Amino acid sequence: MTQTGSVIPHSRPTLGEAEAQALRSVMASGQVAQGPQVDAFERAVAALTGLGGGVAVSSGTVALEVALLTLGVGPGDEVLLPTYVCAAPWLAVTRVGATPKLVDIEPQSYGIDPTAVRKALSPRTRAVIVPHLFGLPADLTALQAYGVPLIEDCAQTLGAVERGRPVGSVGRVTICSFYATKLVCAGEGGMLLSNDERLLEKGRALREYDESDRLDSLAFNRKLTDLQAALGLVQVGRFPELVRRRAAIAALYGAELSSLGLTLPAVPDGRTHVYYRYVVRVPESAGPLDGIVKRLEGRGVQCRRPVFRPIHQYLGETGFAASDEAHARALSLPIYPSLTDDEAARVVHALREEFQ
Ligand SMILES: Cc1ncc(COP(=O)(O)O)c(C=O)c1O
Repeated sequence: MTQTGSVIPHSRPTLGEAEAQALRSVMASGQVAQGPQVDAFERAVAALTGLGGGVAVSSGTVALEVALLTLGVGPGDEVLLPTYVCAAPWLAVTRVGATPKLVDIEPQSYGIDPTAVRKALSPRTRAVIVPHLFGLPADLTALQAYGVPLIEDCAQTLGAVERGRPVGSVGRVTICSFYATKLVCAGEGGMLLSNDERLLEKGRALREYDESDRLDSLAFNRKLTDLQAALGLVQVGRFPELVRRRAAIAALYGAELSSLGLTLPAVPDGRTHVYYRYVVRVPESAGPLDGIVKRLEGRGVQCRRPVFRPIHQYLGETGFAASDEAHARALSLPIYPSLTDDEAARVVHALREEFQ
């Protein structure tokens, strides 16, 4: 193994002097809790997604919970969601007292499978959570046709397009995450977005416990701070530059890794990819993924399973072949705007050593 220098991390935020300056000015202003920066951040993210407005909250998981509550989802209701995703959507559905119903994914796009959704629909289905995984939109056109409210989960994908429509602009409610290594970093944070002002009004009420005319047991403290929002605002301003850099790294990987027997990310017709993650499929002949991850780390590159574990595997459920296959073979490579050309070349070198 030919490792030089330190290990290239799988994820890393991309922060600079503009972000530091924004934080200093909020500190100097004396207003660090939710205030004008949060208002401006809500307007900026709404503009980025082409939506009427947003309600900033403390995380993407909380945004999912609030989105479900604003739709009136609760005990007795079913919500469909893919099993191949982090635990956050399942937790949010469970938290509001509704029943999560897992469905499989499309093998190539990793998006929730519209055919599986159709088969899982029942008179109790109140919503479908649609994560756009790794930077690629799910098949919104097919999902929209069922007439069930969609909650678009844009935690991993902003700025991508499905048949001319930006992700986030199709669902009844949309959520984002601003976790440290997401496309837009605020350290932690989330937002729900919608064109429906009444939903947004409900969301605003749910993130506060104070200054309300009535005591609502569902309300809580779910607020974002002006410090986080100021950071996020700078990142939204840099969004085109940040996405361009991701695209450049993806193009380099596409050219340099094409002869190694890996299946490179596919972009279905009518969709664009913003490469939040660069996920390849390794052939079965390469052996178990855990060993590959360990050897690549020894070669100086930290790669990861892009989803830690599909939800059905925690629950001991079976019958999700595409998700099981993705879990066994999908490998996520380092891709983020602060990845240097030299680091990207080291990633390519390590993969060549492993797979050639
Ligand atoms: C698809 C998806 N949904 C929701 C979340 C939850 O976001 P947060 O970590 O901000 O709570 C994440 C975060 O990793 C995610 O990837």
